Amino acid sequence: VPTWDELFRDGAPLPTEPHPWVVESLAALGKRRRVLDLGCGAGRHLRFLAAAGHDAWGVDISPSALSLTRLDRGRPVAPRLALAEMTALPFADACFDAVVAIHVLYHGPRFEVERGVAEARRVLRPGGLLVATFLSTRTWKYGEGEALERDTFVQPRGPEAGVVHHYVNERGVGSLLADFQLRDLELEEHVDGAGERHSHWQARAVRPPAGTSSGR
Ligand SMILES: C[S@@+](CC[C@H](N)C(=O)[O-])C[C@H]1O[C@@H](n2cnc3c(N)ncnc32)[C@H](O)[C@@H]1O
Repeated sequence: VPTWDELFRDGAPLPTEPHPWVVESLAALGKRRRVLDLGCGAGRHLRFLAAAGHDAWGVDISPSALSLTRLDRGRPVAPRLALAEMTALPFADACFDAVVAIHVLYHGPRFEVERGVAEARRVLRPGGLLVATFLSTRTWKYGEGEALERDTFVQPRGPEAGVVHHYVNERGVGSLLADFQLRDLELEEHVDGAGERHSHWQARAVRPPAGTSSGR
């Protein structure tokens, strides 16, 4: 089973442009915010955040990904980077204005994904914004590979063969984000050259401001 670090060392194909959901979601964030890129990979969003003048922080479990981010030639990238699991973020409570987590909060079994979402909430200030994607049950690979539990499978093929993926339907996103105020939820789908459908939930959610209830 490959680790994320091996995937990065082997030079897995990586997008370099920021995800449109991040660009759209952060447009109204204001200036010079403190933003965490959770599962930052090779740094495409850190580059975008730094160029927009934000105080950009990145965390990832892959040392190779963090090295790629450091070597990034598209400066200014001067993000502060940490090697850590999404389940145990090395940051104080309520210290970020926004957390970006693109294609991250589905790598692992359900309890790890829940823990990652809870950690994102913990490090966000009240009123802070989570910009995240989740893997939809409508995506091509749903149900393929070894089932570890309901809606969690070991991906059988493709560049991420061996990596654990957790899938959610709309209710599943709602349940993961039950301690947030969900602002926007969209299903983004496209079909690749091999005719396979990629389907992700795109969410914008806010850590409830102090004194308000999340609805739970
Ligand atoms: C599909 S890549 C996305 C990278 C980046 N967010 C982007 O959009 O380009 C998934 C990233 O999540 C990281 N990752 C996977 N599991 C993680 C975990 N438990 N804790 C922290 N990072 C994790 C991987 O190392 C990888 O960089």
